[in-house]
Amino acid sequence: MKDHGDEQAAAGVLWAGRLAEKPGAEAFAFQSSIAVDSRLVREDIAGSRVHVAMLGRQGIIPADTAAALDAELARLEEELEAGKLPIDPGAEDIHSFIEGILTERLGDTGRMVHAGRSRNDQVAVDFRLYLKRIVPELLRELAETIRALLNKAEEHLNSVMPGYTHLQRAQPVTLGYHLTAWCAGLERDLGRFSDALERLDECPLGAGALAGSGLPLDRDFSSQALGFREPVLNSMDAVADRDFALELGGACAITMIHLSRFCEDVVLWASEEFGFINLAEAWSTGSSIMPQKKNPDFAELIRGKAGRTTGNLVGLLSLLKGLPYAYDKDLQEDKESLFDSLDTVLACLRMFRGMMESAAFNTERMEAACTRGFLDATDGAEYLVRRGLPFRKAHEITARVVRDCIAAGQRSIAERSLPELRERSELFEADVYQALSPAASVAARKLSGGPAPEEVRRQIGILRKRLR
Ligand code: ARG
Repeated sequence: MKDHGDEQAAAGVLWAGRLAEKPGAEAFAFQSSIAVDSRLVREDIAGSRVHVAMLGRQGIIPADTAAALDAELARLEEELEAGKLPIDPGAEDIHSFIEGILTERLGDTGRMVHAGRSRNDQVAVDFRLYLKRIVPELLRELAETIRALLNKAEEHLNSVMPGYTHLQRAQPVTLGYHLTAWCAGLERDLGRFSDALERLDECPLGAGALAGSGLPLDRDFSSQALGFREPVLNSMDAVADRDFALELGGACAITMIHLSRFCEDVVLWASEEFGFINLAEAWSTGSSIMPQKKNPDFAELIRGKAGRTTGNLVGLLSLLKGLPYAYDKDLQEDKESLFDSLDTVLACLRMFRGMMESAAFNTERMEAACTRGFLDATDGAEYLVRRGLPFRKAHEITARVVRDCIAAGQRSIAERSLPELRERSELFEADVYQALSPAASVAARKLSGGPAPEEVRRQIGILRKRLR
């Protein structure tokens, strides 16, 4: 049998010395990850530069070799920035591609770069470095989205609208209150991303394949030079675990569930039936057959994309379940789904913000909707409680008033005359009507956490402070 080792080595295959036979082209491509991990090229070069600097400082490779490797890696960085580093789609992964170039250009000097390192700790460090670069972008985007919504909320502190439970009109709230509720969820998402970022801020370099290295590496130096807080405590953990990817995948999935629910509100509000929101034409699409259509496609698509981030998270959990410690090639599948989730969240946040910033609200319609559907019933009951009636009794009396209304074709208890109300309870007086108006109802609920305009202004202030 012909020995393909040399041929493979020449082609940049890092493990060519061991195997006399070479996988066929289709099989080689199957196990390659270059299509996904070429995204890590910047991080791979940065990690290698620190690694060779460390090798030089520790006398593991000669100082001039370290300098030559660093100069070549710096050149690669420049070529990359200038768009002049074409990544070979036939390479096995980004790590072998970069090492392959170094060897091609520097010969034996290039072959010294991998001392004390394995692709297992290399990929772990690249992945974490990439997340340290990208997640802050996502945090900024999230903060911008929250700010945009809070600005809208502030404009609508007094815009009353129906609040719903079971999608049935329940009690009057304000649009400002509703939008602030969305922001409270997004602000926790922000916290989830930053928590995950904090926990992943440990450097795997020096973990080797799974058991560290017998060479006198300086892990603290590498960690510090790459901007990590500290080296990962245990090297087996460093190459085997991907809980940081799960946390971020989870944060992405939760954020998308939030956006999906907000978008469902928007889709409902944009319908003829609700008519609460008027999406900008630039943030709507038409129909190929129905000339009249103006569809909330952006909201629908964001809602739809929440499905992929859920799927990505479940995929990642399933990938890890049952994997024996330490590294297994299965782990190569970790990046595609997390990259997709991060891309999805980033794109959806931008689209959601654009759609919401340009949207107009039909506040008259919202207010009109508050006067139909008995949104004042709870206030009617509370009116009686304030006059000393036990709540259960007040509830029952008001429920009877509601039934009277329905029999008379009325849609709110405020439509009953005072004598009619007094047939049910002598405690009703003329001032009941003030308590029943949507604005009064909202203003009365000024407890902390409530929808009263001043209280929502306070909530907005607190959220704004947390964003700083
Ligand atoms: N491409 C691999 C990955 O993404 C790099 C690590 C390969 N290690 C190995 N022992 N085959 O996980």
